Amino acid sequence: MIETHEFGGNWTEEKLKRVEKYLKAYATIMNKQNFRFAYIDAFAGTGHIEEKNKTDNQIFLFQQNDIKEIETYSKGSARIALEIKPEFDKYIFIEKSRKHFTELLKLKEEFKNKEKKIDLINTDANSWIIDRCNNYKWQNNRAVLFLDPYGMQVNWETIKAIANTEAIDLWYLFPFGIGVNRLLKKDAGNMPISWEAKLNSIFGTTDWKEAFYSETLETTLFGNETKTVKDADFNKISKFIVKRLKSIFAGVAENPLLLRNSKNNPLYLLYFASGNPVGAKTAIKIAQDILKRQ
Ligand SMILES: C[S@@+](CC[C@H](N)C(=O)[O-])C[C@H]1O[C@@H](n2cnc3c(N)ncnc32)[C@H](O)[C@@H]1O
Repeated sequence: MIETHEFGGNWTEEKLKRVEKYLKAYATIMNKQNFRFAYIDAFAGTGHIEEKNKTDNQIFLFQQNDIKEIETYSKGSARIALEIKPEFDKYIFIEKSRKHFTELLKLKEEFKNKEKKIDLINTDANSWIIDRCNNYKWQNNRAVLFLDPYGMQVNWETIKAIANTEAIDLWYLFPFGIGVNRLLKKDAGNMPISWEAKLNSIFGTTDWKEAFYSETLETTLFGNETKTVKDADFNKISKFIVKRLKSIFAGVAENPLLLRNSKNNPLYLLYFASGNPVGAKTAIKIAQDILKRQ
């Protein structure tokens, strides 16, 4: 039996649909150029996604096309990438969990004709990315890299290494509602030091304090008291991240996609940034179009 990987609802499909569209456009364009081009899936998972609520009864409610769509998106990002035509020159899948990695290994069997093109690496994404980005000749190589963590596993140092190559296009699922927004407590005075450190490491700066908090004077029974309170909504935080990415990438899509769960709570923001100064304009145009709500 295939070991599956349970997470997500429609937002998972939304995310994968956008990335898939970009990979198709990217592979088509790069196929006509002289670069070697890779797909790097740094939080690769198992290759499968289990549809939590799918029952036979529910399937009968769908039309044929809808069934096709469900089947398509019970595939994880790794399998989706391997099925894209034209093919990439290389597929690099990184997965830290031994259990998930064991499942990923089966992709080599399933995609026998691409076996030599597939690199499977059982390690931490941050350290692998930093090493590869810093110690590889990127001149004749290009890549699309997908960062698809559950939570706040990606450090800014990793994002910076990716941008520095000037050769990589990045899709980054940013942990907004499930991570950062929870740590940004209303009253900054009560924030644990470890939370502050985590926010520094995800944003790569301490500027978020000034950007998201302001001082207010509160009158209490004991007189006036200055408090540092949160003054940041979703829009402000989302724009701050665009600005951070713009400080290191050649181009950044201005319209990250907000992904919500079935209860309408915001979970993640899907960002796109392009590292190559020559290719960025086209890449951003394509990604911004893909990111528009459809
Ligand atoms: C959201 S899932 C990825 C889903 C996958 N992209 C897909 O579409 O099927 C996140 C994966 O990252 C793995 N992971 C967590 N921390 C990691 C790390 N530091 N480095 C690499 N993989 C990690 C988890 O084991 C999990 O399989």
